[in-house]
Amino acid sequence: MKILAIETSCDETAVCIMEATGDIKSTKFNILGNALYSQIAIHKQYGGVFPALAKREHSKNLVLLLNKALEEAKMESQNLTPTLSSEKERELETLLEREPELLKQFLEFLPTQSKPDIDAIAVTQGPGLAPALWVGVNFAKALSAVWNIPIYPINHMEGHILSPLIEAHQLEKISFPAISLLISGGHTEIVLVKDWLEYEVIGKTKDDAVGEAFDKVARMLGLPYPGGPEISKLAELAPADHGVVFPRPMLKSDDLDFSFSGLKTAVLYFIKKQIELTPEIKASIAKEFEDASVEVLVTKVRKALEMYPAKTLILGGGVIANKKIRLAFEKLITEMSDVQLLLPPLQIATDNAVMIAIAGYFNIISGKQPKIEFGAEGNLSL
Ligand code: KG4
Ligand code: ZN
Repeated sequence: MKILAIETSCDETAVCIMEATGDIKSTKFNILGNALYSQIAIHKQYGGVFPALAKREHSKNLVLLLNKALEEAKMESQNLTPTLSSEKERELETLLEREPELLKQFLEFLPTQSKPDIDAIAVTQGPGLAPALWVGVNFAKALSAVWNIPIYPINHMEGHILSPLIEAHQLEKISFPAISLLISGGHTEIVLVKDWLEYEVIGKTKDDAVGEAFDKVARMLGLPYPGGPEISKLAELAPADHGVVFPRPMLKSDDLDFSFSGLKTAVLYFIKKQIELTPEIKASIAKEFEDASVEVLVTKVRKALEMYPAKTLILGGGVIANKKIRLAFEKLITEMSDVQLLLPPLQIATDNAVMIAIAGYFNIISGKQPKIEFGAEGNLSL
């Protein structure tokens, strides 16, 4: 089966065309076309993601990315479609009335492309920035209306959880219950995966997400957005005996919850007390902040694995691009030697449409029904 997936939850616009085969225990994925445009350079000047701007950029780029993905998949048209009926055109105008730029491009694109060989559309429904999500959802509905292809709304977090399965051999490592840690700019969650597509959030942040804390601390240190990679780079320059100490919030609490705002505030107070922020002090702050984050994440995940008990650990979300975090979890599973670790390839650790296609396929083969009437949901939970 061939799936067209669309992701617009935050600051990445992405379209993927995926070929998927096999049942739930033997799925195989083959990326036929994949196009992604990151808006980071645009948001950088504002020091974070600006929702109205994200929406505008998705609107501007979706048709181009679709075209690119179709080309890569060798699905671009040879034979031109007949012109749209005026009835269809009115339907599209209604669906995309809030995205005039997208509508214009789509109406220009349609006569150049006949219906491609695609069986299903998977689109991110949430969670994320509502204005950004709506662009993807409305575009999916417009495509569905002209090409008569069913749509499966997808939870973005489910996409992150299932993303390691792009590699067929990872499938063998999964046993249930599994524990998944999802860490990104918007989320810090420990999810109990009870069975295929059965989730329960068993721990989450009470305030800031880890990635958000990395971004905010980076800003305090004068580093550009996104702050995660910048903090990591700077931390490597810190002396071993730097002497800076930050708290590990909620490390010893009985639950599986986190708090990163306290840690961020500790950094702020520490900075305010300094007479001068030398490069060495900055590097020390970055290192101690990173170490504190890693320690809380690993401790809580260890606890979750022991509590249930679970033999599979799945990591996902943009923050797992962090080398120290990955190393810390690799160390954890050498200590808990019966636990299997699943990590997505780095290119699909941050937001992308490949993971939405994977989640779409699992939804379809599990018997989920396509939807017509649905909207974006910024606060969608698992
Ligand atoms: O999953 P993602 O691409 O988008 C969201 O859904 O939020 O994650 C982006 C987040 C940003 O906060 C960014 O600073 C963080 O991931 N990040 C990192 C690293 N690379 C990206 N955080 C720590 N260390 C990194 N190397
Ligand atoms: Zn994400």
